[in-house]
Amino acid sequence: MASPLRFDGRVVLVTGAGGGLGRAYALAFAERGASVVVNDLGGDFMGVGKGSLAADKVVEEIRRKGGRAVANYDSVDAGEKVVKTALDAFGRIDVVINNAGILRDRSFGRISDEDWDIIQRVHLRGSFLVTRAAWDHMKKQKFGRIIMTSSASGIYGNFGQANYCAAKLGLLGLSNCLAVEGEKSNIHCNTIAPTAGSRLTQNILPDDLLEALKPDYVAPLVLWLCHESCEENGSLFEVGAGWIGKSRWERTLGAIVRQRTQPMTPEAVKANWTKICDFDNATKPQRIQDSIDGIIEALNKIDSDGGVSANHTSNVTSTATSGFAGAIGHKLPPFSSSYTELDTIMYALGVGASLKEPKDLKFIYEGSSDFSCLPTFGVILAQKSIMGGGLAEIPGLSVNLAKVLHGEQYLELYKPLPRAGKLKCEAIVADVLDKGSSLIILMDVYSYSGEELICYNQFSIFVVGAGGFGGKRTSDKAKVAVAIPNRPPDAVLTDTTSLSQAALYRLSGDWNPLHIDPDFANLAGFDKPILHGLCTFGFSARHVLQQFADNDVSRFKAIKVRFAKPVYPGQTLQTEMWKEGNRIHFQTKRFSKKQED
Ligand code: NAI
Repeated sequence: MASPLRFDGRVVLVTGAGGGLGRAYALAFAERGASVVVNDLGGDFMGVGKGSLAADKVVEEIRRKGGRAVANYDSVDAGEKVVKTALDAFGRIDVVINNAGILRDRSFGRISDEDWDIIQRVHLRGSFLVTRAAWDHMKKQKFGRIIMTSSASGIYGNFGQANYCAAKLGLLGLSNCLAVEGEKSNIHCNTIAPTAGSRLTQNILPDDLLEALKPDYVAPLVLWLCHESCEENGSLFEVGAGWIGKSRWERTLGAIVRQRTQPMTPEAVKANWTKICDFDNATKPQRIQDSIDGIIEALNKIDSDGGVSANHTSNVTSTATSGFAGAIGHKLPPFSSSYTELDTIMYALGVGASLKEPKDLKFIYEGSSDFSCLPTFGVILAQKSIMGGGLAEIPGLSVNLAKVLHGEQYLELYKPLPRAGKLKCEAIVADVLDKGSSLIILMDVYSYSGEELICYNQFSIFVVGAGGFGGKRTSDKAKVAVAIPNRPPDAVLTDTTSLSQAALYRLSGDWNPLHIDPDFANLAGFDKPILHGLCTFGFSARHVLQQFADNDVSRFKAIKVRFAKPVYPGQTLQTEMWKEGNRIHFQTKRFSKKQED
């Protein structure tokens, strides 16, 4: 049986813990070893009055059972004071459950200013103030778990609750943002939309349901989400009666209603309405980047149909382009490099080829009759050609190398890479794009063996913080990633990276200390050194080759990837693959602990 989830040494603050759901959370955390701050203002369900009885009773109950708890009677809109109780009593704060709530139900036209304001103040502003007071402590200790309490009313709308619905959905927005901002400090924020019998629901739910929908059927989800072993972040769960479901956004494929040379009209919107609203093959965007990508893809399509007609756009483009006139087309100094069988084997080991998989022998033993170089080795020499300092010397571009991230990679092979050889690489700046906060350099690298073109790479290099110069966002030179099909994968392979994976991979030539030096990784905002994106890339390509090409390198043509999130050495990777004709779509995820359990 799985070991019990404990919270020994953790300090948990539950707001509105004097009754209902909050009380159930407080008792459950205390029972599993946490020190608990039981906050409750002690007023009625409409937010009138106050008192210490509610919080005191729960503290008493916890202590009677041998647990540790203190009371706090402040309103959540005195967030600093609430958190101070945790710091004074227990010296730290690890978990914040934003749960306090009241109701002021009225049909929309009858909502007074006061009804509106007090609901926003308790739910949205209260959660903001309590969480903000805890935030820096969590950041410093590089651990925090936060829960926001939304409601099905907020997600779907409910008659008579406009003030409450607005605040409750606002909490989801707040949570989504904290999940993004907190991630690198191991602060996770998730949202629940509970259903339980309490004084808030006693006038809404029938008596027998009130009894059946115990708060105890919600608390276990909250505990799991707040455990240190839970990797869930930025998610929304509906929960009640012992059932838990995860909710997410869905977006139709939509329709382009504008042509490059014509104005956009409401008639065109009307004509495309069915398609705009058709959820067949809908996508499930998860990050803001997914949303932006959809827009950029549309712009690409419109542009490739003949370009954008508006004068404004062409002005902006020419201004931006003129700033980089010297950059686009600039060639980095030519670069040649030899590699031996030792290099190809070291690379294969670096991307996880192993004796565990007998068919990998051809990549790691030069005496194999079919000894082969992994196709993705094609990025290695190309990368060396742009890492020699050339990036900092592109005319018209001032690139701060400390701000450079590898965003995407395209590799196309014209014939299998020789098992050893010498390649000459020519790198050229194909385009410069403006993605808002980042500038992107599209760097094309052609690699030749003698006169013969062996492979072509395109690196999308993000220079963080250098965007926003009014430049164009898309380029017909860009190799674009294709979305994964909207169906379960045809095949899934999992593979565990070793703790020394990055240490091994870097021997192939990427010496960035971010991947080996803990102090350097901390400075860059990571807990520990991260794996090279191109190492994960090698794992993924190996999986595809193994699954669909029987490791036959001659069947590899091209690969395009986008790097989404860091992987730490030792983590397990899971490659989901879909076959569509001769093309394999894939996405590689970190295999979460939850699944491993
Ligand atoms: P409850 O009324 O039993 O508990 C809420 C607690 O918050 C009360 O003890 C109250 O004194 C306290 N509180 C109110 N204003 C406060 C303030 N300014 N500062 C500190 N404490 C304050 O209600 P229940 O059902 O346990 O609700 C808990 C949370 O779950 C609320 O945010 C509610 O909106 C939400 N929720 C509950 C649902 C349910 O089915 N029970 C459905 C959807 C959401």
